[in-house]
Order: sequence, then C-alpha cells, then structure tokens
Amino acid sequence: MNIKILHDEMTVQSGIKDLAQKLNAEYKGKEIVLIGVLKGAVMFTVDLAKFLTMPVKMEFIKLSSYGSNTCSSGKVKALDLTLPDLSGKNVIISEDIIDSGHTAKFLIDYIKHNYQVESLKFCTLLNKKIRREVDIDSDYSVFEVDDLFLVGYGLDYDGYYRNLPYIGYIEN
Ligand code: IMP
Ligand code: MG
Repeated sequence: MNIKILHDEMTVQSGIKDLAQKLNAEYKGKEIVLIGVLKGAVMFTVDLAKFLTMPVKMEFIKLSSYGSNTCSSGKVKALDLTLPDLSGKNVIISEDIIDSGHTAKFLIDYIKHNYQVESLKFCTLLNKKIRREVDIDSDYSVFEVDDLFLVGYGLDYDGYYRNLPYIGYIEN
C-alpha cells in the first residue's frame, strides 16, 4: 500500500493548536465536556485536550459505521454511548472526519434528544464536504479535504495506520 503524506505531523499539530486557541477564547470562564468518538478521533481528541486551558472533562463514545474498507455506509452503529448527565453542560464533540455526515447527524440528534445541554458544538479534524449526503456541517474543522481516502492520525484502512503521526492518503 502506497501512502502519500497530505498533512505532516507539524502541520497537524499546529492546526489543532489553532483550533484550541479559538475554543479557549470562546469558552473562556466556562467548563466543557469534550466527547471524543472512538476509535478514529482518539489522537485528535487527546491532542486537542492538551492545548485547552478551561476546565475540561473528557468522555469517549464508540461508534462504527458499517461499510467496506474505503466507503462509509451511512448506517451508524452505536457500540458504546455511555455518558454522564450532560444537562446544563457546554458540550464539544470531536470527530476524525465528516464524510457522508450520517455519523455527525446521529450524534448531534442523540445528544439533543437525550440531554438539555447548555451548548453543543461539533469539531472535526477533517471535513470531506464533497461527499455529504445529509445537511450537516461542523462548527469547526481543522482541514478541508478532497474526495481522497485518508489514513493516519486515528484514521484507518481495515484497522491499520491509525498510529501514523501524520495524515496521509492511499495512492491508487
Ligand atoms: P460519515 O460518512 O460522515 O458518517 O463518516 C463515518 C466514519 O467513516 C468517520 O467517522 C470515519 O471514521 C470513517 N471515514 C470516513 N472517511 C474516511 C477516510 O477517508 N478514511 C478513514 N475513515 C473514514
Ligand atoms: Mg470516526
């Protein structure tokens, strides 16, 4: 498998730091609950959290979108949605990528339906707008990307490459 670098480690880290600075300004004096979506958003969530300066509680949920290796199916499977009571909280969801948008829509609807949150924002590391099937957008995206299959920094191909410190794409 030939993997080309799209955003190297330094670019990824500085993009995440820029996002953290925006969030630090926006949530100054407030406390947040940062919810990372496993497994893909594990690196992003952890690195983002390290740059945040307000009081943060970290939670993780686990979803999987059934599909082939390189195509998300649009069907979202909740593997673990265990969360504390989010009522009255400022909630930020962190995702690896918005592709079709089904996962993001599912999560936003789920949280709004189950908790009276004070606020809810959606952050994604990567935004693949061209593939959108549902009308949803993130409040913050670190990188806009074309219709490429991306791996690394949490994103996988058949379970592999999540550990790469950079974002790459598979060259055909
Ligand atoms: P959705 O299509 O927006 O629901 O995205 C579903 C999930 O598919 C994302 O959270 C990712 O985990 C995965 N995904 C989408 N595009 C890619 C990609 O280019 N590489 C690796 N995983 C992807
Ligand atoms: Mg994901």
